Amino acid sequence: MNRRRFVGMLTGTAAAAAVGVPLIKGSGGSSSTGALLPSRRPLPDRYVRKLAVPRMLTPDPRDSDTDRYTLTQRCGQIEVFAGVATPVWGYDGEFPGPTIVSRRDRRTVVTHRNQLPVPVSVHLHGGHTPAGDDGYPTHLLFPEGFRGDMSMAGAMSHDRRDYTYPMHQRAATLWYHDHRMDFTGPSVWRGLAGFHLVTDDEEAALPLPVGDRDLPLMIVDRSFDVDGSLRYPSLDPTLLHTPGVTSRYAAGVLGDVVLVNGVPWPYAPVAAVRYRLRLLNASNARRYRLSLDPPAPMVQIGTDGGLLPHPLTHTAVELAPAQRFDVVVDFSRYTPGTRVVLRNEFGSGATSTVMRFDVGARASDPSSVPSTLSTDPRRSEPDRIRTFRFRRAGSAWTINGLPFRPDQPIVSVPLGATETWRLMTDFHHPVHVHLGSFQVLGRGLGGPGDYDTGLKDTLDLRPSEEAVIRVRFDDYRGRYLLHCHNLEHEDMAMMAAFDVV
Ligand code: C2O
Ligand code: CU
Ligand code: CU
Repeated sequence: MNRRRFVGMLTGTAAAAAVGVPLIKGSGGSSSTGALLPSRRPLPDRYVRKLAVPRMLTPDPRDSDTDRYTLTQRCGQIEVFAGVATPVWGYDGEFPGPTIVSRRDRRTVVTHRNQLPVPVSVHLHGGHTPAGDDGYPTHLLFPEGFRGDMSMAGAMSHDRRDYTYPMHQRAATLWYHDHRMDFTGPSVWRGLAGFHLVTDDEEAALPLPVGDRDLPLMIVDRSFDVDGSLRYPSLDPTLLHTPGVTSRYAAGVLGDVVLVNGVPWPYAPVAAVRYRLRLLNASNARRYRLSLDPPAPMVQIGTDGGLLPHPLTHTAVELAPAQRFDVVVDFSRYTPGTRVVLRNEFGSGATSTVMRFDVGARASDPSSVPSTLSTDPRRSEPDRIRTFRFRRAGSAWTINGLPFRPDQPIVSVPLGATETWRLMTDFHHPVHVHLGSFQVLGRGLGGPGDYDTGLKDTLDLRPSEEAVIRVRFDDYRGRYLLHCHNLEHEDMAMMAAFDVV
């Protein structure tokens, strides 16, 4: 289906979908934009399965200046319900995909093979990546022998392609996921997401918790069918022809089962020492407000774009889809034997908890959180101001009134220019910018929010809000994306191309 037909279809279904935008209220008085998709079988019990940590990939040792990896995208299965296989689409068949660790300035090449029944596009989220390898939605990698519609493809390859990442960027918690035109939501829902961490000398010199005390935690909500398979309200379950979800879920799909690294409500045995938790909200639409019960401080050390200049102590952290918060929790504050629940204050019922930490014995702990973590990346004064409005129009989601057209950039940004962008919304829109990280200068008439500190690539914009960010695009020219990371909004056209010139 071509883009014109898709937009026509959106307009056509506008009347049918005019039921308003459901907002799920959280117990903390805040909310997610979306509708709850109930599972069709009893939910799994909480805290019976142990937390899994995604497998870490080791690079091909034959190369001296490049780390090379190969990932095969294929069907696999996970176990969410005891004794029942849940089919997933995974990188190497795994969900989450294996973790890749890159060193700053050391080139990383990931060869992706596609053995799924659909085309894919791989995006390294938070990556400072040349445009050709950024996972543009129409740069499709088809499975070998694919015989379906290829009209949406821009640059295309079959069977395999290399994604090359120069990695000229700070240490940070990045993630990779599918970014195919019109079908990102269901593809990520089925499992196409994994961690990609970047380390550097500045971070390695700090006494932060490392090794198995550095835990990546990918938090998602999902729903399940009677047979234990993932449930998602696609109009076209083959994910090949008609994009979008049934009208009830046009504002976002919210699941009723919380998975951490693919395990429902896991427990994690921890020693009574400090841990670094790399929190990633990889959900399609759900926002979380995470806190510990019994309470303990969560000391934020980093976010999307890497380490903060100084640690920040929170009693709770709020994460919109695609955002990352690196926090250090000192479990020695608890008596050994304490069971500490990671709560979601924005959830209700089953979604009000995420996982549990079971605090074990005291152990030696050489780690600490220094009061200075990184040098403040200075930004020059802005050259110009632009405004972007994120709004629903009929049943499409638009930016400045326009649905996404992959071949029609809406602005051109000079390479190296610092810009001020005003972002305005109607509902919750987690606004994501490719290539350039940004600083949040303020929200409404006030300053930045409690969770806006540091370099971000995704902003948690709340209903009827205006935020001002300062952004700069360095190093690479080409076509990049600005979009809402509520994946249902993204698939329903809330995305815009811009050119760095
Ligand atoms: Cu995480 Cu353009 O996406
Ligand atoms: Cu991205
Ligand atoms: Cu949105």
